Parts: sequence; structure tokens; C-alpha cells
Amino acid sequence: SLPTRVRIVEVGPRDGLQNEASVSTSDKIELINQLAAAGHSYIESGAFVSPKWVPQMADSAEVFAGIDRQANVTYAALTPNLKGYESAKLANVSEVAIFGAASEAFSQKNINCSIAESLARFEPVMAAAKRDGIKVRGYVSCVVGCPYQGEVAPSEVARVAKALLDMGCYEISLGDTIGVGTPKTVMAMLDAVSAVVPVEKLAVHFHDTYGQALSNIYVALNRGISVIDSAVAGLGGCPYAAGASGNVATEDVVYLLNGLDISHGVDLNALAAAGRFITDKLGKQPSSKVGLALQAKCST
Ligand code: HMG
Ligand code: MG
Repeated sequence: SLPTRVRIVEVGPRDGLQNEASVSTSDKIELINQLAAAGHSYIESGAFVSPKWVPQMADSAEVFAGIDRQANVTYAALTPNLKGYESAKLANVSEVAIFGAASEAFSQKNINCSIAESLARFEPVMAAAKRDGIKVRGYVSCVVGCPYQGEVAPSEVARVAKALLDMGCYEISLGDTIGVGTPKTVMAMLDAVSAVVPVEKLAVHFHDTYGQALSNIYVALNRGISVIDSAVAGLGGCPYAAGASGNVATEDVVYLLNGLDISHGVDLNALAAAGRFITDKLGKQPSSKVGLALQAKCST
């Protein structure tokens, strides 16, 4: 049955902007403030990764220093290793996320190590976060397919998800990084993962590359999954996954949830305005169908 409430994890300022040419630090800060004002309770606001690998996130410390923090909002960041974790802590992040993959090839391209090495590298991050009382979210990328190695076995996704859970992550976000999943492959993957990780601890992270994200989200909701990652205006992609177009647009997710009478706390009009703010800065249209429809409605 469907959940009555969903927590939306807004990843636009990170997953979205990590793949965009150049957005000023002050525009990033303004975007995050607008997203909080629209009612978001969880905003992934940056990444403490190597600036050589992802230059777009090099100003994350300045971003965290500049945002107007709201007491009820979690401002999170990606931390691939202890160095990133220490920087994130100095920046006073609310919580951090570690990110592994279910595909060996993607793990190498994205974080320059094998899956096993990545899990070992996360151990000291987990230990430090536990000591500091900072919660850690875990991502598994390429849960349906990999841009370098093709199909990914559901059993591999389950194995990595379970490892992150056992390590102490409070939630595991399952990422269809290149958006190739359909309800059939997503259900097979969720069957395997939910056999080893309770659904209350799962989140889904779909990219809309092939236009399947909302169908896949509906499948996940019907499985009782109540945490959905999305990006305002459908921003983003992944620098290490060619052709990975944007994340599912938050506006589209909100419209779906509104239609299903599932509460989430986000105001659609304020959210769409934040989407227009950032896409204006990027000189492009929102890739959200709902965002575009609302825009057309406003101008008629
Ligand atoms: P490496 O080159 O193997 O690392 O990269 P290293 O330890 O050998 O260090 C190399 C240099 O980077 C050194 O600097 C380090 O100090 C520096 P140098 O001595 O050469 O001047 N360095 C750092 N600097 C700042 N912050 C750090 C850091 N670590 C090392 N944390 C590494 C390994 C993991 C660092 C690198 O591969 C990396 O940063 N990768 C991040 C890639 C990334 O951010 N990808 C996008 C996010 S994942 C994603 O989008 C998928 C997701 O959305 C889910 C989905 O869609 O499915 C989550
Ligand atoms: Mg992503």
C-alpha cells in the first residue's frame, strides 16, 4: 500500500549542479535558501570531493558558510573519504553521505577504487561520524545498469546496500544513475534489496534519462518506500556517467504525490519558482514537465 507521507531529499544543489558548467557561489546559496523556503526539509547542498574530479563542487565550504540555516532543515553533503568528511565537519554540515556503487567499473571511474576498497575507505568516515554524532546516509549507484559494464545484477545491489547498512548508514539510497530502469527491472532490484534491507531504510534516486522515473517511483511507493530523491527543475546528471541526464524533477514528484494525497511539505509554486530561478541562471528551460506547464499557465 502507498505511504501517507513521503520525505523528499532535494539533491538539485549537489547532484544537479555538479554537472552544470558554472553557477556562482551566491546563486547556489540563493537556490538553497529558496528550496528551504519552499518547504524542503532535506537539501543536499554540496560535496566535499576532490576539486580535480568535480570542480563544480569546489566551493561547497563557502556555500555552507553562506546559507541561511533553518532549524528544521537538514543540509547534507557527500563525503567520499576522511578528508572530505573533515572538511564537511568544519563546514558544519547537518549530515553526510558516503557513495558506493553496485558496478566495479563505475566505482573505478567515479571514486577511483574498487567496491571493496570503497567500503574500506568508508569505515573511518563512519567511525568519525559516529564519534561526532553525525548521521551518515549511504548511496548505491548503478542499481539497474552501468554506463561502462551494462546490466547490474540485483544481487550485487543487495550486497552493497547491506554492507552500507551494516556499516551504520541510517538510510540507503538506491540510485539508477543512468535512468535505464523500468518497473520490471526496478521491481527485481527492489525484491533483492528488500530481502536484506528493511524498506523503512530505503530511498530511491531515479534519473529521468529515458523518461521512466515517475513510473519507477510509483513502483517504489507501492513497495512502501517513503523517501524519494529528486532535483529541482530536473537538474543534473553525473560527470562519470555520460548521457546521464537529469535527476527526476522535484516538481514532477510533488505533482505526483499531490495527486496521490501523499503529504510531503513542499509548496509546488514556490518550488517551481526556485526551479525557474536556477534555470534562468543556467540559461536553459527547466526539464520538469510540471515546471514548464506551470510556467505556461502563468504567462497565459
Ligand atoms: P584519488 O585521486 O584516488 O584520491 O580520488 P587521492 O586520495 O589519491 O587524492 C588525490 C588528490 O585529491 C589529492 O590532492 C588529495 O588531497 C585530493 P593533491 O595532493 O593531488 O593536490 N583529495 C581531496 N580534495 C578535497 N576533498 C576530498 C579529497 N580527497 C582527495 N575529499 C576521490 C579519489 C574519491 C577523492 C575522487 O575520485 C573523488 O573526489 N571522486 C568524487 C566523484 C564525484 O563526486 N562524483 C559525483 C558524485 S556520485 C553521483 O553523482 C551518484 C549519486 O548521485 C547516486 C546516483 O545518481 O546513482 C550519488
Ligand atoms: Mg544521482
